Amino acid sequence: MMLLYFEDEQMSAQRIALAGDLQLACIERHRFPDGEIKLRLPFDALGKNAVILRTLNNPNEKLIELLLAAQTARALGAAHLTLVAPYLSYMRQDIAFAPGEAISQRIIGRFLADLFDTVITVDPHLHRVATLQEAIPIAAENAIVLSGAPLLADLIATHRTNPLLVGPDEESAQWIALAASRHGFDYAVCRKVRNGDRAVQVALPEAAVAGRQVVLLDDIASTGHTVAQAARLLLAAGAVSVDVAVTHALFAGDALQVMKDAGVGEVWSTDCIAHPSNAISMAATIALAIGQHRTQAGY
Ligand code: R5P
Repeated sequence: MMLLYFEDEQMSAQRIALAGDLQLACIERHRFPDGEIKLRLPFDALGKNAVILRTLNNPNEKLIELLLAAQTARALGAAHLTLVAPYLSYMRQDIAFAPGEAISQRIIGRFLADLFDTVITVDPHLHRVATLQEAIPIAAENAIVLSGAPLLADLIATHRTNPLLVGPDEESAQWIALAASRHGFDYAVCRKVRNGDRAVQVALPEAAVAGRQVVLLDDIASTGHTVAQAARLLLAAGAVSVDVAVTHALFAGDALQVMKDAGVGEVWSTDCIAHPSNAISMAATIALAIGQHRTQAGY
């Protein structure tokens, strides 16, 4: 099976291909002077089943790439197309918070469902919808959700003694519970109200934090203000240390500095989005999911 990748994700593609014994081919990309792009797929080696790797941080241009790549792969004869998007964008806008707002999750989900037979992703931000299939309307068995929480929990267990895992908002409860159960960690979840892109109010849970090594765990840190605000409160409440573990290191602008200024110690992330904070690779987990799905679906 062929794993197609874009040049900027070569390292990630190589890790997945190595773990899953997949063939690798680069999708060549040319940018015209006016900003349009041209893609070229490996037409002579594509085969009937192909996987396209594209992690969807900075998603807008990448979505056009997927449109061009998926339709070209179909035209070249691909019968089963899988998208591996370790980070899946546009999942947080899952309702119209004000009249007239685009429900991006539904629109982008439909867009991807029209292009791909199978979608594999890691810790998608599913808040008001329960399943990936509700966001991306493809067959349930083809909407595959993996999680970085167990491996992040293993990492935390090697670096901290009897840590308290804290989720910075209610949505993080799903990942916190998963990570905590793996090692029997104590855990608690904050409440959050968002007033703007960089304005959040966080309320700490009842749990006693004084004297504890706290790790804030979430799916995403974007501007970093959510975990920064939680960290400030935790340290003020007597936590001896506050570290951060996230699946997706979006880290927009000065996010890392915002977290550090709030007193955060270590920042750990998975390699779903390439970043110097990457401490965990999801490659083996993703490769296993590709192989298992292929066996089950028989393609
Ligand atoms: C949303 O609830 C997510 O789980 C994150 O908490 C959120 O996206 C983080 O955003 P920021 O880092 O910009 O505060």
